[in-house]
Amino acid sequence: MVNRLSPKLRDPLQGQPLDIQGFEQPRALLDRIPEDLTSLLDLVQRPVVSATQFNREQLLQLARLASRYETQPQLSVRPLTGKILISAFYEPSTRTRLSFESAWHRLGGDIMSITDPASTGIAKGESLYDIGEMLNHYGDLVVLRDSSENAVYEMLESLRIPIVNGGNGTDEHPTQAMADIYALLKWRPELCDAQIDADKRIRLAIVGVPGVMRTVRSLLTLMSQFAPAFEEVLIITDEEAPFAEGQREELESAGLRFRITADMDRELPDLDVIYINKIAWIGDDYRELGSQYRLDENSPLKPDAVVLHPLARGDELARALDTTPHNWYFAQARGAVFMRMALLSTILKSFA
Ligand code: CP
Repeated sequence: MVNRLSPKLRDPLQGQPLDIQGFEQPRALLDRIPEDLTSLLDLVQRPVVSATQFNREQLLQLARLASRYETQPQLSVRPLTGKILISAFYEPSTRTRLSFESAWHRLGGDIMSITDPASTGIAKGESLYDIGEMLNHYGDLVVLRDSSENAVYEMLESLRIPIVNGGNGTDEHPTQAMADIYALLKWRPELCDAQIDADKRIRLAIVGVPGVMRTVRSLLTLMSQFAPAFEEVLIITDEEAPFAEGQREELESAGLRFRITADMDRELPDLDVIYINKIAWIGDDYRELGSQYRLDENSPLKPDAVVLHPLARGDELARALDTTPHNWYFAQARGAVFMRMALLSTILKSFA
């Protein structure tokens, strides 16, 4: 019989627990970002559908608040006690749903969760507009994921409670991008500074397709708020037209500088950050793009380069990198809980 248990599980004394990067870094953000919650008041009771809704000061204050939650995850007060989250996921999710629910639980609230559209009136042809009208009476905030770009807007028409977009088709995934920015700020706290010396600017590559990958689209939007921090943004893809119409021009007008290449291995030795993603939700299913790109233990990464990935991963990111200092993707996923705590407590104006 094949023994499928890993050596560590067969003998728990073998090997050390995985050392997730970034555990100490939240404290650095508390020192770096002066607290001023004023800018966050504009987000109170507001829907979050797009990364374009956030400005730089709000992102910094949310990151600071997330740092506060991350450094003291056991809160002495539970600001969302008595509040109900409606977690409506009409498309599969591991991280977004569970980290939102973890965030809400940690803030003391209760949760109603939809994980299968067929279990709601959708199966009988009910519209999201009508479902939204009902949700007004059942809870205090909705997180919606749907493979249609329009879903969040359709529900928004009838909602009087806030909604947060948990990913809508090929369009946006704003809270994933907030988690990505939080990971970047923890990795290099000087990115918080308004002025960045030329020799401190970072070289970041995205292995992915900004025009159809919602995580990439939202991340680039948020990165444009920190444009002076990036020497250039490399898009690594074999797609002939990786940007949606007008997307590149808009990001460039906000200060990002792009270069597109298909040759990943030639660029890797010069990169500080590599953000890799393969999945795009197109229609009712996902597609894998750029299947020839793969990061593994033989990739020519700089010793201090960090790898980000929104996850779920496939072959493009080898598990051999999990136990190396390049692995910031687990810190990125972990930090999403605290960034979502920061956002949720801001929207409900219930800071702990
Ligand atoms: N990053 C992300 O959206 O992961 P899930 O699909 O698991 O929610």
